[in-house]
Amino acid sequence: MKKHVVLYKKLSEPLLARLQAHAQVTLVADPKRDDHAELRAALPHADGLLGASIRLDARLLDLAPQLKAISTVSVGVDNYDIPYLDRRGIALCNTPDVLTETTADTGFALIMATARRVVELASMVRNGDWTQNIGPAHFGSDVHGKTLGIIGMGRIGEALAQRGHFGFGMPVLYHSHSPKPAVEARFNAGYRSLEALLSEADFVCLTVPLTTQTEGLIGKEQLALMRPESILINIARGKVVDEHALIAALQSGKIRGAGLDVFEREPLNSDSPLLQMNNVVATPHIGSATHETREAMARCAVDNLISALQGERPANLVNLKGRELRG
Ligand code: DGY
Repeated sequence: MKKHVVLYKKLSEPLLARLQAHAQVTLVADPKRDDHAELRAALPHADGLLGASIRLDARLLDLAPQLKAISTVSVGVDNYDIPYLDRRGIALCNTPDVLTETTADTGFALIMATARRVVELASMVRNGDWTQNIGPAHFGSDVHGKTLGIIGMGRIGEALAQRGHFGFGMPVLYHSHSPKPAVEARFNAGYRSLEALLSEADFVCLTVPLTTQTEGLIGKEQLALMRPESILINIARGKVVDEHALIAALQSGKIRGAGLDVFEREPLNSDSPLLQMNNVVATPHIGSATHETREAMARCAVDNLISALQGERPANLVNLKGRELRG
């Protein structure tokens, strides 16, 4: 008999057909509505779940007694309680690799946009306020040759380093759990303590996953170490930064600007002080959001789930390493 999959994110037709060839699929079109009412109704029959952007905690997952696998259409797994999943023997799979380059492109877009004041000055033109040649009051700062500081040298960190080193001639500094000699050789990169990186880099780019260790990693004390001409780029998760402290640092000119794709609360409230500041470029969590990459992520998630429900080891298993999977 086919396994039952609850899909809480829309798939393209070919991917839906692929999943349906292996499983009976229930689509929950608006999973957040009415305190997840539709999702809750579907969970008691679920062997597998596929979707993204919802915190699936014990309160919801206790409703799914026969659940064997969750396949998230994301690389980040901060929406899942992994010790809980381990206790229940539920496999969790994610979608690394396929989004690496696209997310690094987003990081670089934010570097360019903040340093060269692209959004602010494009708005000036659009609003009809470009009435004379611009002068120093509208100049930005260079990107090429400046020091790129990367916190979290995983796949996305490396893809940023590649762009900075080979494309823009930037000296690369990085901070991660431990030094990475291969990265140092490839990008002529220097390992630094967090404190040293914050005080030396012109661009401080966050690419770490959100965990109990990285939540609030960048707060008032850390921002105080950055130089007044430096710019913070966050393509990781909003909670890695203390947003209050960041707002204060930007308002007082402690740092030059920030390029932010992620926020403590998403969607960002329209009355956030971050949106009042010209030196902030805020984007709506677009890290991996291109047609090509989102389709590749969804394909990866479908393949992961099909494998897991067949009792095979999926290519991107996050937990239950070394344990038998329940087919
Ligand atoms: C990811 O894949 O984790 C992206 O940030 C989307 O959530």
